[in-house]
Amino acid sequence: MNIEIIGNSSIDISKSVAHLIQDGLIGFPTETVYGLGARADHPEAVTKIFQLKGRPSNHPLIVHIPAAKENTDFYWMTQLEPWARDIPSEALRLAQAFWPGPLTMILQKAKGVIDEVTGGNETVGLRCPNQKTALEILKQLGTGIAAPSANRFGKISPTNAEHVYEEFSPIRSSFSNEFDLLIVDAGECEIGIESTIIDLTNIDTHGLRILRPGMISVKEIEDKTGLIVGKVADNKVAHSGSHLAHYAPMTPLKIIESPLAQLVFQPSENSIYLSVMDEDLTSLQNIPVHPLPTDAKSLAKIIYALLRELDKKSYKTIYLRALPQDSQWDAIRDRLQRAATGSGRS
Ligand code: TXA
Ligand code: MG
Repeated sequence: MNIEIIGNSSIDISKSVAHLIQDGLIGFPTETVYGLGARADHPEAVTKIFQLKGRPSNHPLIVHIPAAKENTDFYWMTQLEPWARDIPSEALRLAQAFWPGPLTMILQKAKGVIDEVTGGNETVGLRCPNQKTALEILKQLGTGIAAPSANRFGKISPTNAEHVYEEFSPIRSSFSNEFDLLIVDAGECEIGIESTIIDLTNIDTHGLRILRPGMISVKEIEDKTGLIVGKVADNKVAHSGSHLAHYAPMTPLKIIESPLAQLVFQPSENSIYLSVMDEDLTSLQNIPVHPLPTDAKSLAKIIYALLRELDKKSYKTIYLRALPQDSQWDAIRDRLQRAATGSGRS
């Protein structure tokens, strides 16, 4: 298996589209994280994603669909109809408010959507990414791109092209040329953590429910659309992001409530302390302190890259001060909680 990083010029985009058409895999940028994409209408192509990622085949994938300048009910209906049926009016309202953007909608799947994409479920996840290169690839391809985040199963999501390369180059010799991976490099992702997932499949009985928090918050959805959104639901569908251990670094990551109580008397060891708080840590002399951005948006953008970087420094432990409780931190708190649970394993 060859892995090549290419740019995002029009020639590079054509090359990536040609590769997709022939059932090839691409690493591609979105505004959230890089995706590992294949054309969503060919089982032979989609199967390769599961094999390369090492992901269980019953975990459904998100289908990425294109956008145009139009933002009308009619337009979104034509984009959704190839993939979904019984489309509720709420879906059109959400699309108008947030697409292209970091929101994934779960809808009843249309008849022709292949089981390899849905994990055998009757539902499908759909998202229109807000990233110029991704949208251009989608436009030229003329079908959807099925894509999970471009990391090996359970690992940290990639937010630039080099991260994608690092994920798959160690295992390249286990795969044949059919798996050749083209990584389209469009720099760092704007948002840095995965999309908000909202379930619209049981509106009559359960209303709208968030399955995975993201940087589009419940409040923002309610404010922009007037819809009422329910609490984070327990996702019954096999859902890797809902596993308690996920997004995980190899170095043990421990979340602590109070550094002065919990770390001051630690023997000096090769560990590091991360915090978004403005706190007096003069008595914390045995552990280096790494301040984090103090607003949620800036932290989301760098957190995965930082975890990757720290993971290479062979710290004994990465200590993280628990994030503030207010809702703007919910999505990052969710990821870091899972990262902590899954950390410390090879
Ligand atoms: O921001 C994102 O969503 C990124 C970029 C690449 O678009 N994608 C991403 O994909 O995070 P992935 O596969 O790493 O996470 C998507 C989650 C999975 O946990 C999957 O199980 C869930 O979405 N999902 C997909 N289709 C679903 C469905 N029909 N019902 C319930 N959950 C679904
Ligand atoms: Mg993922």
